[in-house]
Amino acid sequence: MGVIGRLARLAVPLSFFGTAVGCTVLVKDYYSGARYSGQARIDGKTVIITGANTGIGKETAKDLAARGGRVILACRDTNKGEQAAEEIRQSTDNKNVFVRQLDLSSLQSVRTFADNVVKASIFGIGKAFGYLVA
Ligand SMILES: NC(=O)c1ccc[n+]([C@@H]2O[C@H](COP(=O)([O-])OP(=O)(O)OC[C@H]3O[C@@H](n4cnc5c(N)ncnc54)[C@H](OP(=O)(O)O)[C@@H]3O)[C@@H](O)[C@H]2O)c1
Repeated sequence: MGVIGRLARLAVPLSFFGTAVGCTVLVKDYYSGARYSGQARIDGKTVIITGANTGIGKETAKDLAARGGRVILACRDTNKGEQAAEEIRQSTDNKNVFVRQLDLSSLQSVRTFADNVVKASIFGIGKAFGYLVA
């Protein structure tokens, strides 16, 4: 059998494979939801992001810092948090990225975090939270 004959035999399985891959991509795209592409700024707003040293929390922190927000990374490990904060400050050119300790499995830690945030001078007197990302 020549090359053309072998290619003809592969055509049907390759077509099935291509269709399956295409359908998978379309279904994944559909279920992963719409993507926000707006250019909105949040200058002057304060954002608290939990679990912000890695993964989805860090990406959210980076995006909101790039939009001019004052961002607080609430992390249980402040060393990891500082590493993420430094990376975010450099990549977004926003110096208003802070780290505060928070272990969400401890209500005492949640209370201490809330007290520290409310008292912290980084907010200044009377500055209300613009956003709260839980
Ligand atoms: N702010 C948010 O809403 C937020 C943020 C992150 C993740 N998530 C959720 O987590 C899921 C997985 O996300 P991912 O892929 O980004 O996961 P991931 O990479 O595993 O990150 C999870 C984050 O949560 C932190 N975390 C876990 N337990 C914690 C605790 N007791 N106190 C404080 N922080 C804690 C982790 O800190 P360590 O590095 O110290 O483990 C890490 O920063 C998603 O379904 C998402 O909904 C939500």
